[in-house]
Amino acid sequence: MSLMSNYAREDITFVKGDGAKILDSKGKNYIDFGSGIGVCSLGHANKKIAKTISEQSRSLLHTSNIYTIKSQITLSKSIDKLLGYKTYAFFCNSGAEANECAIKLARKYGTINFKEKKFEILTLKNSFHGRTMATLAATGQDKFHPEIFAPYTPGFKFFDTIDEIIKNIDDKTVAVMIELVQGEGGIKPLPKDDIVKLSKVLKKRNLLLITDEVQCGVFRTGEFVTSQIYGIKPDIITFAKGLGGGVPIGACVSTKDIFTPGDHGSTFGGNFLVTSVANTVLSEILKLKESGKLNKNIKTFNRYLDKMVERYSEIFESKTGLGLMLGLKVKDAKYQDLVYRKCLEKGVLVLKSGKDIVRFLPPLNIKKDEIKDGFKRFKDALNEI
Ligand SMILES: Cc1ncc(COP(=O)(O)O)c(C=O)c1O
Repeated sequence: MSLMSNYAREDITFVKGDGAKILDSKGKNYIDFGSGIGVCSLGHANKKIAKTISEQSRSLLHTSNIYTIKSQITLSKSIDKLLGYKTYAFFCNSGAEANECAIKLARKYGTINFKEKKFEILTLKNSFHGRTMATLAATGQDKFHPEIFAPYTPGFKFFDTIDEIIKNIDDKTVAVMIELVQGEGGIKPLPKDDIVKLSKVLKKRNLLLITDEVQCGVFRTGEFVTSQIYGIKPDIITFAKGLGGGVPIGACVSTKDIFTPGDHGSTFGGNFLVTSVANTVLSEILKLKESGKLNKNIKTFNRYLDKMVERYSEIFESKTGLGLMLGLKVKDAKYQDLVYRKCLEKGVLVLKSGKDIVRFLPPLNIKKDEIKDGFKRFKDALNEI
């Protein structure tokens, strides 16, 4: 193999997709309940996205951030409209980069606003914030800190619960960074009361709340951002995955405009291609939301999963998650890989999360018959376990 061995790749090559359907090089078809880990929010080969890419590529793909890019401004205004408050946006290429921007912003905020510099960021032990050195350091899960990559970026502390985070805020703390629904840590929505309390404590002390909505944002949980479901207004929100519907884009938006030229940047970040596609993605998902179809899909998908827990109670313990960011908790960790593999065999793509969760991140616009077909295959898989 000519590629680095950093992924445990399946021996499957996909060649074509259409909505939630996807075909491999051997001619086998699958229903995609994973959307490329929450990226293809409008499914595969979406016509509106294809049209945007085609049209944009015939005028401009890239000029660099030396110049003004109108589609970035449009995107940032749409984000504000959807959030309901004013933010300043930085566009980049991935979730980790969006979080890097958030970390740098927080450190600058901690430098310019206090007599003694504040720089520490508190996160949860079960968190995942990315694979760069700083975002790995922000990630609380021990398995992401092997000695081979040490030393890690200093300035991060992890705690088991939000309550512990609150108790451990000290003179060095500048921000708390959290995923409202932990994605890689097992599709775990955080308790609402704790989050509301945390948000109030931070506001009172002029410290920052950063919500990492890389996986749970952009209508994945039913609203534009999960923060809206929790009734909070974070100072910084990060996005990626579903925002581009398949093109690589990340965004860090903040209520504070404190960077000055040279503080941060990206060559590709927010170029014409990705921001024009993200504009299309947002307007299409908004239509889906306003027509009631998104909520319908959420209800239908959840109903199927509830049935799976009921019917296959020897395999599954419970359902977890919010909106279309969902998981089934297996009773014994050995079932996680077994279910995943049987599903591949039967032609339905599911994901794994944590040690015991079978994860579902279907396209937000998945069709009723695709859901039905996918769960038929899912049942076929479970019947053989
Ligand atoms: C919550 C969260 N933050 C950050 C990241 C990192 O995103 P990326 O892989 O685009 O760098 C992920 C990726 O899974 C994520 O789920």
